[in-house]
Amino acid sequence: MSRIREICSLSPIVPVLAISNQSSAMPVAQALVNNKLNVLEVTLRTEQALDVIKAMSAVEGAVVGAGTVLTPDQLLRVIDAGAQFAVSPGATDALLKAAMDQNFPLLPGVSSASDVMRVMDYGLDTLKLFPAQVVGGVKLLQSFSGPFPEIAFCPTGGVTLDNMTDYLSLKNVVCVGGTWLVPQGDLNEQSFLAIDTAAKMAFDKASLLSDV
Ligand code: 3PG
Repeated sequence: MSRIREICSLSPIVPVLAISNQSSAMPVAQALVNNKLNVLEVTLRTEQALDVIKAMSAVEGAVVGAGTVLTPDQLLRVIDAGAQFAVSPGATDALLKAAMDQNFPLLPGVSSASDVMRVMDYGLDTLKLFPAQVVGGVKLLQSFSGPFPEIAFCPTGGVTLDNMTDYLSLKNVVCVGGTWLVPQGDLNEQSFLAIDTAAKMAFDKASLLSDV
């Protein structure tokens, strides 16, 4: 199994986090890991992202990756910060080649059959469908299962607590991702208890599915 597939298989839900207050990094990661959501995506959308990746990586059991990685230069910087995987909203040849050269787990974004074929040329078998709800959601993934039986997806973009089980019950979905689990308001207010409660509710709901 590819390393990125292994990582995605560790948790049914991957919280996508944009954290600008570095002091929140460890308590947020701890609240998520305590509720078995141990795969965390820290987006490069804040200036503190690399420090947040470093801090969260110190939480026992956390598997911390970097999101919104757009360029080879960013990829090198997140590897340096200790990220264990990278996520991109789309895929460029430059980024795909850089990940291959570094032998680093990359979850590249796709939104069409042609995208899937292009990243398959790089040997990748686990992809992010983005923005999932906009580009066809559950129906698109069902359609992809015919021509791409070996490919597993992590749909992200418009996934919520309400629709996540529609995705997770698909055979070709390994996990779902999204910002909904940790709302910006909870982060701003450092409401770690609210994050803990939301994580528990989401994990419990995902666990009701027999194949999760
Ligand atoms: C991402 O970065 O993966 C997406 O922006 C998350 O999409 P969402 O905000 O709709 O969950």
